[in-house]
Amino acid sequence: MQIYKVGGAVRDRLLGKPVTDIDWVVVGATTEEMLAKGFRPVGADFPVFLHPKSGEEYALARTERKNGRGYGGFIFHASPDVTLEEDLIRRDLTINAMAEDDQQNLTDPYHGQRDLEARLLRHVSPAFAEDPLRVLRVARFAARYAELGFTVAPETLELMRQLSESGELEALTPERSWKEIARALMEDQPQVFIEVLRDCGALKVLMPEVEALFGVPQPEAHHPEIDTGVHTLSVLEQAALHKQPLTVRWACLLHDLGKGLTPEEEWPRHIAHEHKGLKLIKAVNERFKAPKDCQELALLVGKYHTHGHRALELKPSTLLELLQSFDVYRRPQRFEEFIAACEMDARGRKGLEQRSYPQADYLRGAAIAARSIAVQPLLEKGFKGPELGEAIKSERLKALKAYKDQA
Ligand code: CTP
Repeated sequence: MQIYKVGGAVRDRLLGKPVTDIDWVVVGATTEEMLAKGFRPVGADFPVFLHPKSGEEYALARTERKNGRGYGGFIFHASPDVTLEEDLIRRDLTINAMAEDDQQNLTDPYHGQRDLEARLLRHVSPAFAEDPLRVLRVARFAARYAELGFTVAPETLELMRQLSESGELEALTPERSWKEIARALMEDQPQVFIEVLRDCGALKVLMPEVEALFGVPQPEAHHPEIDTGVHTLSVLEQAALHKQPLTVRWACLLHDLGKGLTPEEEWPRHIAHEHKGLKLIKAVNERFKAPKDCQELALLVGKYHTHGHRALELKPSTLLELLQSFDVYRRPQRFEEFIAACEMDARGRKGLEQRSYPQADYLRGAAIAARSIAVQPLLEKGFKGPELGEAIKSERLKALKAYKDQA
């Protein structure tokens, strides 16, 4: 049997990027031979094994044939007579379809190296269409390598467009899609992921609520960029520049969905868009089965981001309601993430990227004031049950009034 390093490890070494995990392909071997060498099989019918010591993935060279719709619809043909070239041709991109032996000799039948130099994300063959998840993968690679100048080859974008129109994207499982979305959002230029999805028509299938924001105007006084879609991309860009976690990036992407529902005659104003957007945020959250912390923050940011911007003008009672809604006493980190998302929203506007955001410290101070109320003295006074709750609330309100007066 011959063993080759393949995929991302080869690509990233040639790009001079750190290689994190290594995938291997094994040519000329049978499942029985792999098991005899101590490799552990991954799943029942899948010709992939884990190395007994390194735990790295070793896949038997295989050809794939489409057999019905969606990811379940694959049958694998792995046998010792499948060649390296046959294995590589069914992979997604030319830059991912190179192999290297233990002497670092490159096998590159589909010109991945040429495309690396040309900074092109190009599909290898029509077999690209066998896995619709690749539409999201290409958009994710475009986000990751944007800083190196990579773009999607026009013929690949066209194929992605056909796949998006074919209805195949709807057959992807939420789990597979979310994994790609989460990884893409954590790249340095996540806005490019959304742009590429939009360019190939996948955004209107995957997240029509985000697609709907493009072409919707906002008041120029607050939003010099005017377009709500452009604003959303800038907010995401700011979130990445400020190294925000996934929860914040997800909330940034979804915070203004309600603006897509405003009747045209009301443009460029968007009265109550925060509230109107909640059902859309919920729908997107559920479509991809986003993790609970992402879902929660997106809904809270959607509902309260305008409160964040108006923090300094809020009445103490409204401030208190805000802090209570976030359960800031038990979940201080989530409130920090809310503040971060509001700040990214404020900076994700044309020409305002460097603005200061005094609301952030003001909100932090308010949280500290409300959290400083000690429960013990109230217990000693004999409060219990709902009365205790009311007494704590009233003390917190007093603290917030004092905080606002001295601010
Ligand atoms: N691959 C593919 N189609 C997919 C998934 C994977 O063709 N839907 C192939 C590609 O050749 C890819 C390799 O399998 O390079 C390994 O896949 P994976 O580990 O998911 O990605 P990497 O390319 O290693 O990239 P990353 O750095 O994102 O892990």
